[in-house]
Amino acid sequence: MRFGKSSVLAAAILAAGGVSWAQSPKYHLGRTPSDEEIKAWDISVGPEGKELPPGNGSADVGVKIYAEKCALCHGLTGTEGKFLHGVLLGGKESLTTLEPVKTIGSYWPYATTIFDFVRRAMPFNNPGSLTADEVYSLTAFLLYRNGIIEEPAVIDAMTLPKVRMPNRDGFFPVNPVWMPGYYQPYFSPQPVPRKKKQ
Ligand code: HEC
Repeated sequence: MRFGKSSVLAAAILAAGGVSWAQSPKYHLGRTPSDEEIKAWDISVGPEGKELPPGNGSADVGVKIYAEKCALCHGLTGTEGKFLHGVLLGGKESLTTLEPVKTIGSYWPYATTIFDFVRRAMPFNNPGSLTADEVYSLTAFLLYRNGIIEEPAVIDAMTLPKVRMPNRDGFFPVNPVWMPGYYQPYFSPQPVPRKKKQ
């Protein structure tokens, strides 16, 4: 016999694999989700806010919802971050210091992410329970308390994506633009011109 034991075994495994591949096993578990069910989970909102739902809100409404549903963990003013509960306010101009305070106001690059995060994950003890209007109002309240928008500003699918966050340019671009004569230093979000050799 010219083939060793191991090559016969390998051939057998390959053949078995081939069979199960061809038959593509059915486990008879679950079912195809309905469009409604997919819609309930399809709630991601990107930086441009194209997926934002109808509705609106403002800080004066948000402050009441905050006191009722958020202060419990985040503190009455939003600055009393305890244990894992994020500090929600402040930190402006601290990012370049040795003790950066990374909050949604000082660190997050897109206002639409606040909407997305609060809608999907907060309140931590009952995520997904807020209406779109409530999330808009809470987002407006958090932006107002971070000094990013004015108190009467109405936040909706049109206005929220236009809110420019202080740290908008503090991140490396997803698709860096490579230009001749520039290089990308490790600690700078923007490419800088290469120094000419003397
Ligand atoms: C039961 C406690 C609890 C309640 C109530 C709660 N949160 Fe939170 N929140 C947390 C925890 C814990 C985290 C950190 C979660 C993580 O990092 O995954 C967090 C994180 C956040 C963040 C992100 C902070 C950051 O910089 O990463 C935001 C914004 C936020 N909460 C907003 C809210 C709002 C608005 C409400 C009210 C609707 C709320 N939370 C209610 C516990 C809570």
